[in-house]
Amino acid sequence: MRIDILTLFPEMCESVLSESIIGRARQGGKVDINCIDIRNYTLDKHRRVDDKPYGGGMGMVMAPQPIYDCFTALCDDIGVKPHLIYMTPQGKTLTQERVKELSKLENIAILCGHYEGVDERVIEALEPEEISIGDYVLTGGELPALIVADSVSRMLPGVLSDDECFEEESHFNSLLEYPQYTHPSQWQGRQVPEILLSGHHAKVEEWRRQRSLERTFERRPDMLEKADLTDEDKAYLSNIQTKQKNM
Ligand code: ADE
Repeated sequence: MRIDILTLFPEMCESVLSESIIGRARQGGKVDINCIDIRNYTLDKHRRVDDKPYGGGMGMVMAPQPIYDCFTALCDDIGVKPHLIYMTPQGKTLTQERVKELSKLENIAILCGHYEGVDERVIEALEPEEISIGDYVLTGGELPALIVADSVSRMLPGVLSDDECFEEESHFNSLLEYPQYTHPSQWQGRQVPEILLSGHHAKVEEWRRQRSLERTFERRPDMLEKADLTDEDKAYLSNIQTKQKNM
């Protein structure tokens, strides 16, 4: 998969994407991520990419021309039109389900807004999918774009060292993850649950499933409606509910 990030701050994106798991995946050719500087496409003689909003008001608005030319140059360069995403708090909130769908595409381009946003006409012309990462406002679309690039990349084959890693994680199967522990088995008087030291695989699995169910029930009961639950899970949950009512 190829991901292109269209931004006024390519170094900011590049530095994050060069580290850790995504950095390793890029080096290993598992994902091709490029950060493109929108400013390189401005036709303004002073290299400006933004201007004051018509009608007055605070801040600056990103001009349509550099963004449009940047995206069309990218299309010409790679010979296809990537699925374009525009990061904005006005978009649909990103979910793991959408992340999974996006990871099946061959080409994605992500447009980062900055300042007070982007001239509406370029949004009309390019018709991007508008995605928000949550109900709060950041100074720009770079951090949200990095979240999309990271969450999508980790779904690609070979990016995580063990394919099973992501299968059990929170939101993948609509349950929150069970608690994790590592060495030492005693720390500040706190003991790792005995069952995890037992080496009894089936018992460990059962314990983890129950902790996942419990956590989801306590913290995100809304998620249980969509979860894939076995009869055993349902019995366990109804047990918790009964216990809670009797408390
Ligand atoms: N740009 C600024 N805030 C944002 C958000 N919450 N999601 C996506 N893009 C944004």
